[in-house]
Amino acid sequence: MSRVKMLRIVNLLLALVFIGVAFGGLVRMFTGDSLIPYATFNQIHPISGLIFVILVIAHIYLNFNWIKANYLKKKK
Ligand code: HEM
Repeated sequence: MSRVKMLRIVNLLLALVFIGVAFGGLVRMFTGDSLIPYATFNQIHPISGLIFVILVIAHIYLNFNWIKANYLKKKK
């Protein structure tokens, strides 16, 4: 699979998982146990958080040439 195709999939998943993890966390932060019970939160949030971190690492890996060219280039 080409890098661009992989990035398209990774970026879409990254956006969806981020929305889920952040939304769930913020809802619990502001509404406590009333909307999302702790048992449910504890089953979904840590595993989707871990998937989010793995997707971030994949995103950085797939864009590493861009990072090297823009941030890690040597000064003349
Ligand atoms: C992206 C935004 C995130 C927000 C807003 C958020 C918010 C929260 C909140 C409010 C809690 C405490 C819930 C409670 O006890 O009432 C929590 C717990 C936790 N979060 Fe997140 N979180 C985020 C991302 C992540 C990520 C990326 C990970 C994993 C790498 C993660 C892993 C955990 C874990 C392991 C707990 C503890 C669950 C437990 O008490 O057993 N979170 N988060």
